[in-house]
Amino acid sequence: MEKLLAHLSHLEITSPDVEASAAFYVGKFGMREVHRAEGRVYLRCWGDYDTYSLVVVPGAEPTLSRMAWRTTSSEALDAAAARVEASGVAGEWSEGGYGYGRAYEFTGPYGHPMRLVWNVDKYQAGPEFASIYPDRPEKRSLHSAAPRFLDHVTVATSDVRGFAAWYSETLGFRTMAFTDLDEAPITVFSVLTTNEKSHDLGVVLDTSARAGRVNHIAFWVDTHEDLLRTADVLMEHGTPMEYGPSIHGIGEQNFLYFREPSDLRVELNSGGYRNYVPDWVPNTWKPSQGSNNFYRNGAMPRSMTESFPHAEGFTATEEGASEEMKAELLNPYATQGRG
Ligand SMILES: [Fe+2]
Repeated sequence: MEKLLAHLSHLEITSPDVEASAAFYVGKFGMREVHRAEGRVYLRCWGDYDTYSLVVVPGAEPTLSRMAWRTTSSEALDAAAARVEASGVAGEWSEGGYGYGRAYEFTGPYGHPMRLVWNVDKYQAGPEFASIYPDRPEKRSLHSAAPRFLDHVTVATSDVRGFAAWYSETLGFRTMAFTDLDEAPITVFSVLTTNEKSHDLGVVLDTSARAGRVNHIAFWVDTHEDLLRTADVLMEHGTPMEYGPSIHGIGEQNFLYFREPSDLRVELNSGGYRNYVPDWVPNTWKPSQGSNNFYRNGAMPRSMTESFPHAEGFTATEEGASEEMKAELLNPYATQGRG
């Protein structure tokens, strides 16, 4: 298969309080508002090459309402749409929207709304934000917590290996790794990529009945020091660290997690390996090998098993599975009344 997808372009998320969420991303996290229309707020990081990378949309619950991927060409967009339809998934073409042109939109087989685009508006900074460096779309932010650009999205699914297979076979994502429980061959996590990063799409196992949920959205900073300073700034300004800073085993990125006002989980990354191997065969990790935590000494907070929108039932996390989730998966009759 020719390479179809180039990178994650933008994410649309819903929030019950768009103003509170937007104020958080701008005031505390150092993103910048570039547009608003019909109640939607368009936000960019200073290093995003496209006009924006995050859209906050009015909605009753925190959700991932769309993930948009840029194809490698106009022909690749047509080819990707044809492959989606050939797999039995029906989508729709649109004329595009703010910042992007002709688009193919569909809901993936596990309930995740997708958008494929080729034509996007490259960000053109006005005099106030123009960088002195030609390759930068905008000058570096003055905000001491500001992410450079969007990094990845991690969603939740009832079948991690099925999800990875469909996105790999249909759209050409490389599947980079799996995590199976130590106790049983139950796959709780996988990472996929369109490029040299360990992942720009993650997926965790979901035991709830709600399809299409999201576990977190993630942004990038250049250095570990930037990441630690962001943790410091957020702590000082009333946003606790849900987990981290620490280092992932899979991908080897530095990470931290926090929540935005809608309750949606946001991750920040730096570092990590690059992988260009075209015929990479994914390894299957066990949590005991440090898939969850490079140093094999971290205790993951139970709150990390929450995905969005909220639902009954656990999800795994980028870190593996909680003890509660393992108990549920390994013995579904363990709860009184189910036997
Ligand atoms: Fe992540």
